[in-house]
Amino acid sequence: MKINYPERIPMANTPTPIQKLETLSRELGIEFYAKRDDMTGMELSGNKVRKLEFLMAEAMQKGADTVVTCGGVQSNHCRATAAACVKLGLKCHLILRTRTPKPPYDGNHLLDYLFGADFTYMDKPEYYEKEEGGFEEVLEGIRAKGGKPFYIPVGGSVAMGSWGYVKAFEEITGQLDAMGIKKAHLVVSTGSGGTHSGLILGRALTKRTEFRITGVIVCDDIEYFQGQNRKILGDAVKLFNLPPEIEHEKIDLIDGYIGPGYALPYPELMETIKMAALKEAIILDPVYTGKAFHGLIMEIRKGKFPKESPVVFIHTGGAFGLFPQKDVFEF
Ligand SMILES: Cc1ncc(COP(=O)(O)O)c(C=O)c1O
Repeated sequence: MKINYPERIPMANTPTPIQKLETLSRELGIEFYAKRDDMTGMELSGNKVRKLEFLMAEAMQKGADTVVTCGGVQSNHCRATAAACVKLGLKCHLILRTRTPKPPYDGNHLLDYLFGADFTYMDKPEYYEKEEGGFEEVLEGIRAKGGKPFYIPVGGSVAMGSWGYVKAFEEITGQLDAMGIKKAHLVVSTGSGGTHSGLILGRALTKRTEFRITGVIVCDDIEYFQGQNRKILGDAVKLFNLPPEIEHEKIDLIDGYIGPGYALPYPELMETIKMAALKEAIILDPVYTGKAFHGLIMEIRKGKFPKESPVVFIHTGGAFGLFPQKDVFEF
């Protein structure tokens, strides 16, 4: 089936490669691959750029001059949005959730500064309260100065952003077809649901049910993400006039690897990050990909993944988030 995509501004270096993880395949007794979406770019690295291709096109169509988005202080999505704004000649305003009134600039936040973004910092309670209202006060402030803001909710995880991973799903299945792999289990980190829902949407639109898709959650809980993913799918059905049954697609999630909380590390996670670097020269971050990869390895070891079906870990980037947590490593 030919998919009718909304307008898109190409920014990602695609197709990204699918590489076999030879050592881990041998050790785990399963065909194990990584889809290297950490290689979509440098400044625009990771999964976020695929969503931004569609969201930035919408911002431009609507005549915006400032893109406003939000997230944790080390948000990859915020950094990627700031970089995309530079490329497209737009202003960027980031609303960042912080633990300290003026957070140090390191990792992604250093890059936010380099890309010339403006900031509003909020502590957790204020951030979540204002997020409910779509940060209308911040948008109003920009309008009052004559600006035209376009707001992207957290992670770009809305129906428009999810098209990025519909496209990625087509890319992945095309590559696996060419490799002679007839079915596979795709596994991804789930932090705000847009990547996972986009993949589910892609599978539904292409009817490639031989591909299983599982999200390993890195915050909140399974109930929250069932609701969040269902909402993105439902919005996509309504906004883009898609077959209504898509809203009821199965959403597979794995919990148990968040540790003490969102973005907080734990010893077994850091060991897995070291192990992936040592055995496969793959860099994972402690917030998203590290937790998802750790969860995946543990579940494979527990026998939860049938050995006859290859596993493809979708590496969604996040390397800049590793550096602010360097002191957690023990060498
Ligand atoms: C590196 C990285 N991987 C995975 C995710 C999760 O993707 P999503 O927010 O679409 O669930 C994010 C962002 O939340 C991310 O920055």
